[in-house]
Amino acid sequence: MHPESSNHFIFIMKKTLFYSLIMACLLTANTISAQERKTPDWAKESPEEKEKRLEWWTNDRFGMFIHWGLYALPARHEWVQHNERTSSADYRKYFEHFNPDLYNPAEWAKKAKEAGMKYVVITTKHHEGFCLFDSKYTDYKVTNTPYGKDLIKPLADAFRAEGLRVGFYYSLIDWNHPDFTLDNMHPECPKVKNSRSDKFVMDTIAANELNKKRDIKKYQQYMKNQITELMTNYGQIDELFLDFSYGGKGHKEWDSEGLLKLIRKLQPQIIVDDRLDLNNTKWGYDFVTPEQVMPSKWETRKDPSTGEYVRVPWETCQTFSGSWGYYRDETSWKSIPQLISMLIEVVGKGGNLLLNVGPTARGTFDYRANDRLQGLGRWMEVNSRSIYGCTQAPDELKRPANTLLTYNPKTRILYIHVLNWPTFKALTLEGYKGKIKYAQILNDGSEVLFRERNENVELSLPLAKPDTEIPVIEVFLN
Ligand code: GLC
Repeated sequence: MHPESSNHFIFIMKKTLFYSLIMACLLTANTISAQERKTPDWAKESPEEKEKRLEWWTNDRFGMFIHWGLYALPARHEWVQHNERTSSADYRKYFEHFNPDLYNPAEWAKKAKEAGMKYVVITTKHHEGFCLFDSKYTDYKVTNTPYGKDLIKPLADAFRAEGLRVGFYYSLIDWNHPDFTLDNMHPECPKVKNSRSDKFVMDTIAANELNKKRDIKKYQQYMKNQITELMTNYGQIDELFLDFSYGGKGHKEWDSEGLLKLIRKLQPQIIVDDRLDLNNTKWGYDFVTPEQVMPSKWETRKDPSTGEYVRVPWETCQTFSGSWGYYRDETSWKSIPQLISMLIEVVGKGGNLLLNVGPTARGTFDYRANDRLQGLGRWMEVNSRSIYGCTQAPDELKRPANTLLTYNPKTRILYIHVLNWPTFKALTLEGYKGKIKYAQILNDGSEVLFRERNENVELSLPLAKPDTEIPVIEVFLN
């Protein structure tokens, strides 16, 4: 190459490099600022700060959900108004007869505590729109029923007195509010029969016509007013469960960002669920809420900035029998061992369990709910060390057949929950050689002798199953 043309070539290369560098810088700056713009100032928080805010919740693991409202009277599902397509006028009879004369929240709080639960989340308003608190912004509230008193304040006081934290559920959906636009789920939505499927579907033309008189902006303001009441009149609120978004009703309709901003301003420490339809952000929710399912593993979500799936805090809400509100004739109640193993499995996958009670119209817990709570309590009384402060066990600790593991990372203790007590006085832990310092049966603290065999450890167990529903072996690791 001619020296001159070679100089020219170097000059061109340098120039290209220079401009590429500038372009790269500009592009990075752009993407960073785009990402930053996505997180509003009021929502900025470091991962460590978030972890700290969620610390109590991650430690406590087990809470009580309470679904209570007018639907306790028909006693056939909290969606009864939708399921039976009841008009507001016809549904009014439940409002006129709402009188839970036996309501004693101190008793509820005691039962929750005895079951080992550490927090409560109560419906302050469900989809029917009826408010269990004395809101200034509606007449459709408990203080206007024959009962006549606010239900939420005494409940918050009673649960706090037992040392439990208090959370609120608030329905984004509201079938009573005149500005909540009609949609397919609304009990009063005009419907027509679909000629092909023979099913009733929304009569869009009629619904659109009626919706002209409904102003979702006014409903947004109503929610903000009520959320302000709930976040200011009842002391510290530890969890907020907003429910829920679906096609046509999402962050735009709710003004989710505005709502969350308000919530964070009034209760900065609060932990908020993921049903505001802000799931494509990092800041729009604190935990995810798989409902009435057992996730196959620790829940993950796509990190919007890296595109990678990462583990997220999660809380599964579960019912005793299928419906959330009191359902008199439901027979599909889970057994006590099923519920205990549900709790263990959730914690063993790094999650929380929010277990629901649907109180009756008289204000009491149904006998079947009492039975399950007592069963959980009997187990928790002697085994709760395998739940509080625990999480998923490290991958290198293999799970023996017919067991569930949890692990306390602070104490380095592994908990082996034995679902089928072995008949052969032994349990083999594969690959545990050199890992174990001491082992005992948790419910009575009795030593479990063990010996190492090749790479494994063989625990020597009593023939008789220990006197607890699901026995736990507490293994102190080296
Ligand atoms: C669903 C149901 C509702 C229940 C909730 C609990 O969203 O609509 O009835 O309150 O789940 O997570």
